[in-house]
Amino acid sequence: MPHPNRPFVHLIAAARPNFMKVAPLYHALQRDGGFALLFVHTGQHYDKNMSDVFLRELGLPAPDVNLGVGGGSHAEQTAGVMVAYERLCLERRPDWAIVVGDVNSTMACTIAAKKLEIKVAHLEAGLRSFDRTMPEEVNRVVTDALADLLWTPSADGDENLRCEGIPDNRIERVGNIMIDSFEALRSRIAAVDIVARFGCPSGDYGVVTLHRPANVDDRETLGTIVATLGQIADRLPLVFPVHPRTRDRLEQFGLAERLANHSAVLETQPASYVDFMGLVTASRFVITDSGGVQEETTYLGIPCLTLRPNTERPVTVTHGTNRLVSPDDLADAVAQILTGVCDRPSRPPPLWDGRTAERVVASLREVCERAPSSAGFDRAFHGQSL
Ligand code: UD1
Repeated sequence: MPHPNRPFVHLIAAARPNFMKVAPLYHALQRDGGFALLFVHTGQHYDKNMSDVFLRELGLPAPDVNLGVGGGSHAEQTAGVMVAYERLCLERRPDWAIVVGDVNSTMACTIAAKKLEIKVAHLEAGLRSFDRTMPEEVNRVVTDALADLLWTPSADGDENLRCEGIPDNRIERVGNIMIDSFEALRSRIAAVDIVARFGCPSGDYGVVTLHRPANVDDRETLGTIVATLGQIADRLPLVFPVHPRTRDRLEQFGLAERLANHSAVLETQPASYVDFMGLVTASRFVITDSGGVQEETTYLGIPCLTLRPNTERPVTVTHGTNRLVSPDDLADAVAQILTGVCDRPSRPPPLWDGRTAERVVASLREVCERAPSSAGFDRAFHGQSL
């Protein structure tokens, strides 16, 4: 055992939205000093602008281990991560594997760890869109069914887990860790020079992000979205950092040129975290299909139009600025924002306060103290009394 006196923890990141969840926890675990930490990157995202720049801006070191799995079909990617992560666990067996979010690697590492009887904690547990055509929903359901400790961002998460039969003593509401990243970098985000960086007037543009298969993998749907973005850009400029999947599909479907013809749609490479949050903070509204952006706009009170029929983050609609829209309704929804028809105040949900990482560390410490051994943990957390 390399760390006889401290629980040995793997902290696992894989894809762009994971880094802003892992960074605050990495820093909080380091500050605490009570855990031996191995920072693992599965390599699901590998481009510099989808991975390295986020590590750098969020103050994360180079990963201790990069599994280098890369892309592929869902089965190929999931299997690749399972094989590589199992090998790592056999070589450097942790007491706890911490997974975050809902990407393929989250589920793959959970399955590999549980088959080796390693305890798993899931940060951002309990979110449900109830739409199993979304790959992320499958990842969430499987991860939460297997994980030993479930850290949720909001009350709906607790409720969803209870409905799936997860006992209360495995659920802990800790809040939204992405807000920790925003607060840590707030001053650098506020200093982004939007005019110099993106060439549009602060406060007078919209931001667009799109990458979900349901929006970008179908030619007709993506064609409607491109045409509508063109119409909207006749009224005010749109800044559109284009995801690699979306770039591929635009080219494959012959839509890239059509988009480029709208001079007020400003296409950019995927933006870094600080640049992107700077862009969102100074925008008039955001059009997105991302999960995290729905939360960030709610926190900031920026109107958000989500191009999806459902969301696993309902508090962004009930407490925040989020509205679900179809491609056909998008132009009208933007017009309503621009005329102020649907202005409403945003209330960040409880515990979205920049202190989630502290609560996660306290929860992990408490669990490790209560049940330091695996057998003790199983008795305490899987139904048997100690
Ligand atoms: C993945 C996650 C999604 C998350 C998104 C954020 C799953 C099922 N999906 O989707 O939940 O919101 O990340 O981006 O895990 N590619 C590159 N460079 C990269 C990464 C990807 O070129 O660094 C290419 C891949 O080769 C592939 C495409 O982009 O062609 C999609 O990548 P993939 O990781 O499969 O899924 P995302 O759509 O990014």
